[in-house]
Amino acid sequence: MRCLRFAGVAAVVPWLCVLALAPVHAGSVPVRASLGLVVSQSDLASDVGFAVIKDGGNAIDAAVATAFALAVTHPTAGNIGGGGFLVYRPEHGEPVAYDFRETAPAGSHPEMWLKDGVYDKELHHNSHRAVGVPGSVAGLHLAWREHGSKPWADLVAPAIRLARDGFEVTHGLARSLAAQIPHFRKYPASLAQFTRAGDPYRAGDILRQPDLARSLERIAEQGPAGFYEGETALLLEKEMAAHGGLITRADLKAYVAKKRAVVRGTYRGYDVISMPPPSSGGIALVQMLNVLEGFDLAANGYGSAQNLHLIAETMRRAFADRARHLGDPDFAADLPAARLVAKDYAAELRRTIHPQRASRSEPTSFAWPAESQETTHLSVVDARRNAVALTTTLEAGYGSRIVAPGTGFLLNNEMGDFNAGPGLTDAEGLIGTAPNLAAPGKRMLSSMTPTILAKDGRLFMVTGSPGGRTIINTVLMTILNVVDFGMNAQEAVDGGRIHHQWLPDRINVERYGFSADTLAALRARGHTVNETGSQGVAEVIVLDPKTNLLEGGLDRRAPDGGASGK
Ligand code: GLY
Repeated sequence: MRCLRFAGVAAVVPWLCVLALAPVHAGSVPVRASLGLVVSQSDLASDVGFAVIKDGGNAIDAAVATAFALAVTHPTAGNIGGGGFLVYRPEHGEPVAYDFRETAPAGSHPEMWLKDGVYDKELHHNSHRAVGVPGSVAGLHLAWREHGSKPWADLVAPAIRLARDGFEVTHGLARSLAAQIPHFRKYPASLAQFTRAGDPYRAGDILRQPDLARSLERIAEQGPAGFYEGETALLLEKEMAAHGGLITRADLKAYVAKKRAVVRGTYRGYDVISMPPPSSGGIALVQMLNVLEGFDLAANGYGSAQNLHLIAETMRRAFADRARHLGDPDFAADLPAARLVAKDYAAELRRTIHPQRASRSEPTSFAWPAESQETTHLSVVDARRNAVALTTTLEAGYGSRIVAPGTGFLLNNEMGDFNAGPGLTDAEGLIGTAPNLAAPGKRMLSSMTPTILAKDGRLFMVTGSPGGRTIINTVLMTILNVVDFGMNAQEAVDGGRIHHQWLPDRINVERYGFSADTLAALRARGHTVNETGSQGVAEVIVLDPKTNLLEGGLDRRAPDGGASGK
């Protein structure tokens, strides 16, 4: 079947069909809709977003409502205590990016995670000092102020209802919350909010979050001032002061979400629109697409070892550049963004890829620090085909796990995305390069890659995923699946994924994602192949240009997701 579908070399040479086999379910049916579509990691939140579209709201309205609902129903990563990025492409007009990444509080400095000169990982990743100044409320409000059409309070209202009246805990959420109880025990307000007096919630129980409802009410009534000033700000400052955290009311009041020019590229005639720094995602994605454009992936065959080799070699090079060059653009005058996304630079990189043999990553004494696989993404398209790709995060699942008493929301541990300290690069996984060291007001480097593709001036595809550094490669593969292999949105999401990040020098391959023969062929080319669990949770929408129907691809790698549309 696969050989017939992706005719090419494989159709001519039958044994290659075996190498090309991979468990994409050809014919997996996407959700189809004409009025509008919202795809997110919570079916309740997607329903909230689509109800806004049904009521005449636009993609920004729906994205804002969905994001607030996710802060209630998907506490793993949905948030008001974290940050994120939103890429907006109106069907008519210029695309724009909104940056609501967390910032380092004023008391931050590059050596803030050293104790007596020794790096303290707990302090960096799991403490009140790991909390960055949250950006989500300011960012959602900025996008709404510039493009929303429904009253702000109406968009927050469904989240308030879900928090106040509660919602049924799913099996997925029950399992996830139960696993967090040992962490929540450190923080009484977190334990009270996410357990039944210390006992785990069971599937079917109702989870009510009254403090969160009140925090959301203040946001609904006062906009960002209801979060960055007044009672919420006071409660956050009190919690920080009591536990060695740095965030003050002055930090909160000073937070500004930023409007940024999108990163643009082209891939086989499609316009690619993605997130600029402080995300590394857009630049790395465009860089990889530029390199891959020079290879005939379709002819090699979906899932072929040859393609996986070329894709992995491309990933290796983009991640090396990411480590060398990228950080907060407001703190790095010499960030070579234009060079990294240039076609001629890609051609130079392509020439260094041997068609049959793996190259080696240098230096060998460097490994990336651990980064959480959490974060969440939502894709929205409305009746006019305005589109939003929004990725948001608390960094780790449930972030710092800290709920400041009285606030009802989890705080991020995003400061862990800054480098450990000056010169601390080592074989154990620390990185100390300058562009991403902490400084007051600075945004930490991210991998979130909310992305939109257009063709001939019309929307074509919306994509994004959680997954730490794997995000960039997951998004890349959803695009290749649709553009190079002609998959529908669901097939593109179902397809197996790989990840190479320069160092460690190996390809992570989803277990069951590709055949044993394919992995053997990769090893024969000199790659170290490491089978892993699932990679990312992509939420994809594709617009069929012939029918104007929207196709939603929902990722079953995680429970509870939903594609809501009609
Ligand atoms: N914390 C995950 C990211 O920003 O990429």
